[in-house]
Amino acid sequence: MKLPFFLAKYEKQFRAMNPKYDVVYELSTDEPIVFENSENVKLSFAAIADTHLPDRESAEKNLENAFKDVLNSKERIDALLLAGDIADYGLKKEYERFFRVFLKYMDRLKLFVTMGNHDARFFFRTASKTINSNIEKMLGIELNEKTYYSYEINGYTFIVICTEKAVLEKAYISPDQIAFLDKELKRATENGKPCFVMCHQPFAFTHGLPEVWKTGDMGEQNDEVRAVMEKYKNVFFINGHLHGGVCDYVEEVLNKENNVVSLSIPGYRKENNFGMTDAGVGYLCEVYDNKVIFRARNFLTGKNVTGDYTRFEYDIIS
Ligand SMILES: [Fe+2]
Ligand SMILES: [Fe+2]
Repeated sequence: MKLPFFLAKYEKQFRAMNPKYDVVYELSTDEPIVFENSENVKLSFAAIADTHLPDRESAEKNLENAFKDVLNSKERIDALLLAGDIADYGLKKEYERFFRVFLKYMDRLKLFVTMGNHDARFFFRTASKTINSNIEKMLGIELNEKTYYSYEINGYTFIVICTEKAVLEKAYISPDQIAFLDKELKRATENGKPCFVMCHQPFAFTHGLPEVWKTGDMGEQNDEVRAVMEKYKNVFFINGHLHGGVCDYVEEVLNKENNVVSLSIPGYRKENNFGMTDAGVGYLCEVYDNKVIFRARNFLTGKNVTGDYTRFEYDIIS
């Protein structure tokens, strides 16, 4: 919605007063993504979280900025990950908008999504059915009604774990899913390569929990899932849910000896709670033979993000 000319100078105030105002972010193409060492990148992906898509045209346009930004680069970016809270209420129309954007780009990027509490809590059955059928389309895999899966790109494995029923804000991870995670991590890390795991909810006592959000952890199977992840080397756990912003809470080393790290990706659609709070910020990951680098990027505006907690580098251990 464009404001009448005589109100244009109050636009900022008007937007702040009215959160339902349809802000459409302008994407810059002046600062395309450039890798630190383009020639030697073995895998790369963008990770965003919490798109909370409402049934609004503006939100759909803003979501598409992430794809336009990633594809505006001369670098080859292999995948885009969305760490849950796809839609705001889990409604059919929200997913229609969301997957209209995702399906449009499925031939150019591998796309990974997982359900968040906003997807699962009210209409678990219908939401998971919609999400599953779209994952099957995007990746060409069979899920057999499971909400979790794994996928390989360039010899690197992505494991997506997910709640299997609505448990308020948390996740329910069944024994079968934990066994799947264990088996997949073993296989994926056997050759010394890093592995990437995604879930909406982070582990308890990580990323500022419980102070930042009393009930913000994975839930009942938290300890079991974490123990499995810590068994293997060079595991990078990508999660969302906390809407923390670019701040001290972004990175958490889960197991130093095994190089198991958790990253709390800021929320894409709305302002975040701490540090650098801008909407649209996610992390771009570059994987090399001997290291993994995560750098913050505003995929909504097409700008690099600099400052504290915007770059993390990990040596691959053997
Ligand atoms: Fe969220
Ligand atoms: Fe959430």
